[in-house]
Amino acid sequence: MTQYRSRIAGTGSFLPEKRLSNHDLEKMVETSDAWIVERTGIRYRHLAEDGVNTSDLALQAARKALDEAKLAPTDLDMILVATVSPDMPMPNTACILQHKLGARDCMAVDISAACTGFVYGLTIADQFIRTGMYKNILVVGAEILHRYVNYKERETCILFGDAAGAAVLTRAKDNEDSKIWSSHLHADGTISDLFVLQAGGSAIPFSQRVLDENLQYVKMKGREIFKHAVRTMSNACDEALAHNDLKAEDVNWIIPHQANLRIIEAVAKHFGAPMEKVVVEIAEMGNTSAATIIVALDKAIRDGRIQRGHNVLLTAFGAGITSGSLLLRY
Ligand code: ACO
Repeated sequence: MTQYRSRIAGTGSFLPEKRLSNHDLEKMVETSDAWIVERTGIRYRHLAEDGVNTSDLALQAARKALDEAKLAPTDLDMILVATVSPDMPMPNTACILQHKLGARDCMAVDISAACTGFVYGLTIADQFIRTGMYKNILVVGAEILHRYVNYKERETCILFGDAAGAAVLTRAKDNEDSKIWSSHLHADGTISDLFVLQAGGSAIPFSQRVLDENLQYVKMKGREIFKHAVRTMSNACDEALAHNDLKAEDVNWIIPHQANLRIIEAVAKHFGAPMEKVVVEIAEMGNTSAATIIVALDKAIRDGRIQRGHNVLLTAFGAGITSGSLLLRY
């Protein structure tokens, strides 16, 4: 069977205009700009205005990615939206996006893998391209997390923001040497209690109890997550190198999930990479879950850091817990 290669033909990202600074948060909870910067590296997060939905952020990012790829929405064979903050449980956000984009009747589905969602999505898209089943696939990471955050709880409210990023994956031509080397995906449900949003599903449908007990907000065990994030993202980077018989020096850029600057630094140290080779965008946007990696990738492509031919290693960790890496030649 012919095996095809996939290539990122275009990327795009979108951050809502409204920003919440550490100084704004100082007025809301007992915290300080100095504490937040030292412990997380975050200075701002962007917040979607009321009435703006996850699919609206996704639409902006998707249009930019399609422009860059010089493709029309009607060229898409599949739309994947990685998100844990969909517009609603049903229909999925990918179908809503398909309609807003003006795409044709094509497969459209959401991926729920939290912060690893974009890496899961890119892997799924790559498989459809490798087999020859589809040619052009839109993979989006989009979140409006601030609506699931309790702004009375300082441990969580300082971390999260809203954003969307999108990539168009296409079948590479023979003369194009871009490819996805490999991806290595994991999930460990035994520690799924580390980061949860309990309400709104079939286990705890909305009721007065949800509001009384604040179950509509995210709950996390921050210190535990920190340890597992470093371990799983580091391991996934090792797997990528070993599988492809590459050395750390062969990788031009690492893009870890942007949850905490200290987590990113620990992963870089494990990898033996100087921070100059790591794409870090956390200061301006905080943790935007499935959107962080694709937004960082898009920014680094647009400002010229990442160029065609560069090897780029994506590594992520998220609720579930899910984790993984994906190595690509841009
Ligand atoms: N301002 C000031 N003090 C604070 C704040 C705050 N915003 N938050 C917590 N503190 C206090 C704590 O109460 C604690 O006080 P105590 O010592 O009197 O008990 C002290 O600071 C230290 O708390 P730690 O939890 O040990 O702080 P740590 O250095 O671990 O930083 C943090 C906390 C930022 C949450 C860190 O553990 C972290 O980033 N963890 C990962 C979180 C994460 O990535 N979550 C999402 C993962 S999944 C996904 O990305 C979707």
